[in-house]
Amino acid sequence: MAVTRRLIRENLTDVDVVFELLDARIPRSSRNPEIQKLLSGKPSVILLNKADMADPDFTLRWKKALTSENTRCVPVDSKKGTGLDDAVNAARELLREKWAQYEKKGMSRPIRAMVVGIPNVGKSTLINRLAGSKKAKAENRPGVTKTKQWVKAGNDLELLDMPGILWPKFEDETVGENLAITGAIRDEILDTAEIAVLLCKRLSEGWSSLLAQRYKLSEDDLSREPYDLFLLIGKKRGMLQSGGEVNEDRCANMLLDEFRGGVIGRISLEDV
Ligand code: G4P
Repeated sequence: MAVTRRLIRENLTDVDVVFELLDARIPRSSRNPEIQKLLSGKPSVILLNKADMADPDFTLRWKKALTSENTRCVPVDSKKGTGLDDAVNAARELLREKWAQYEKKGMSRPIRAMVVGIPNVGKSTLINRLAGSKKAKAENRPGVTKTKQWVKAGNDLELLDMPGILWPKFEDETVGENLAITGAIRDEILDTAEIAVLLCKRLSEGWSSLLAQRYKLSEDDLSREPYDLFLLIGKKRGMLQSGGEVNEDRCANMLLDEFRGGVIGRISLEDV
């Protein structure tokens, strides 16, 4: 964390703009408040990534809330590439005056952008999309990007990929829960069944119709305690082990995979 802070600070002078990636489903929890302090007024574009899996109305509210004089906010889907042109244009717009000055002096160079964000938020996916090939190493494990690297994305954009060890601040329990549910924290260090029960709780509270639809649950079912609801879903899916009990690991993995894959629906876990 201290290393990343130093790297960001050292490299900030070399970049024109910062692309800060947040998970559109949990913009608050996936944001590291330290980044704001480090950026100290540098123009930035917040990319609400994985917007394809978030509720569009929530995303719109976040977009408005996170936009300010020096900061633009653009929902994107880095996997498909949706919204990336808008993000790059937002950066151009923020730098318009600076570039006009350059042009006056007959100078021209690509925009240099630093890409920051917590592990697993989609930094490699974004860079690969913008660069048009597999330049950054994308892997399903948080924290895989190890060293910084410059990547060319067309003729007028260069991206600086920062190491993915910028952890969010676990200021309250909900932040930890949100990161666990969305898969930003490795499952190996957390109890999968516990996270899945939490997911059931959150979905039955805020997204009950999507939950009911996906797992064929009645009103009555939805009013159960989260753990009972979790077991019921396992039973309905036939995830039983010898003795007739629900195989909690299998059920938890199924629920988390379906949520993280966007199969249950477009769900945001955090509002403005
Ligand atoms: P990182 O560099 O910030 O650590 O994240 P990375 O790009 O490795 O992305 C983490 C996971 O998030 C990947 O899934 C990636 O495909 C997925 N992802 C990134 N951006 C988006 C997006 O905008 N929408 C959706 N739906 N998914 C996104 P994975 O399971 O590791 O890979 P795979 O299933 O694509 O093979």
